[in-house]
Amino acid sequence: MDSQIYGVPNLLLLTFFTFLAFTATALPSAKPSNSGGGGQINSNSVLVALLDSHYTELSELVEKALLLQTLEEAVSKHNITIFAPRNEALERDLDPEFKRFLLEPGNLKSLQNLLLFHMIPTRIESRQWPVGVTKKPVHHTSLCPDANDEKIQLHEKKGEKIVGIAKVIKSDDIIRPDGIIHGIERLLVPKSVQQDFNARRSLRATSAVLPEGAPEVDPRTHRLKKPAPPVPVGAPPVLPVFDALAPGPSLAPAPAPGPGGPHHHFDGESQVKDFIQTLLHYGGYNEMADILVNLTSLATEMGRLVSEGYVLTVLAPNDEAMAKLTTDQLSEPGAPEQIMYYHLIPEYQTEESMYNAVRRFGKVKYDTLRLPHKVVAEEADGSVKFGQGEGSAYLFDPDIYTDGRISVQGIDGVLFPPEEIKAPKTAPVAKIVSKPRRGTFFSSSIF
Ligand SMILES: *[C@@H]1O[C@H](CO)[C@@H](O)[C@H](O)[C@H]1NC(C)=O
Ligand SMILES: *[C@@H]1O[C@H](CO)[C@@H](O)[C@H](O)[C@H]1NC(C)=O
Repeated sequence: MDSQIYGVPNLLLLTFFTFLAFTATALPSAKPSNSGGGGQINSNSVLVALLDSHYTELSELVEKALLLQTLEEAVSKHNITIFAPRNEALERDLDPEFKRFLLEPGNLKSLQNLLLFHMIPTRIESRQWPVGVTKKPVHHTSLCPDANDEKIQLHEKKGEKIVGIAKVIKSDDIIRPDGIIHGIERLLVPKSVQQDFNARRSLRATSAVLPEGAPEVDPRTHRLKKPAPPVPVGAPPVLPVFDALAPGPSLAPAPAPGPGGPHHHFDGESQVKDFIQTLLHYGGYNEMADILVNLTSLATEMGRLVSEGYVLTVLAPNDEAMAKLTTDQLSEPGAPEQIMYYHLIPEYQTEESMYNAVRRFGKVKYDTLRLPHKVVAEEADGSVKFGQGEGSAYLFDPDIYTDGRISVQGIDGVLFPPEEIKAPKTAPVAKIVSKPRRGTFFSSSIF
């Protein structure tokens, strides 16, 4: 469409229609957390990581641009690589007029195009960067639908990785199973967005031309072929935590004296002791603490994992919840271990990070150390609710213990994988008497 508007009244009218159109299309997706399309995102997704990262300006814009749903769909199909401009690039270094332009509701499309131009639908780790023998730049199509076939160029110059016009300042900054984030020094502005901006500027100056979206371009994926020597930087331990777990469905009883060599940065065992102490002092979690003390193999295993650089979030059922467990549920050999393992998440999550994730994405799946079972979390009553239906539990006492590697979150029910809730007579019912409210800390008794 080629709109030429003369005179103010028409312009106002059109602006109004643009606004209507925007409201109509934007509102349904404005609450992606609830409508979510039934999708569930994995808690270890690169998107969750982005929103939780130090790229706060970028993630704020991604939310403002209502892109979460689009990106959720993208990562459900393929890996993505995000070139994340550092915060300064989006604050101090950004032309205020351009920023104002991007944030006007009528320019949502431009904002979306700009952000999606920083993402490509494939996984590129730094070791796959075009460096070395053949230093030819590689071009990738971005996720930006209106880039008019403008590609993102990756190359190397004087030993520095470059993407488009931006230097990479932190490659492999965030590594997740479905994507990678590289930090870059400045914003990448696709020509189409620059044109929208220029057009809008001249519109303001002349009241004449209304900018229009560029034609859609079919995105194609260009894959890197060249394998390159490794070197993932700043990544967690190379092996997934599941490979590091002691073998067998229940725990190996051996206390794993193992390689206690100089490469162990953390004294996991004393951290585990520390958090068990904290649970005891906190009050209301004696059963859980007891089990951990009694199941020495479990505590040892946790300590070993933390020593090796893994992180853990413990969902600790409180005493009331534990009291509802039947002897049946506890008497099977290995049952307490199995139950406990389902409450261990191999990630470091705080109340805030979990609450943010469920608020933004609706449902979030967390891996547990009880393979292959996952635990689902969602927002409910201003708090985080784990599990489904009968067997659900609320985050009740947030951040009982957080030391950067182990996080302990108190919950008011014992969780079971959905497959095991079927027997209704033994299913624990987590009854919510007083609704947990966000921001209420320490309802604990004084010890
Ligand atoms: C993402 O990349 C990883 C590593 O290459 C691969 O194992 C995984 O299957 C990919 N995910 C998708 C959805 O393609
Ligand atoms: C832990 O062990 C002690 C002593 O053997 C026992 O009395 C207690 O019931 C055990 N606690 C749990 C939760 O198994």
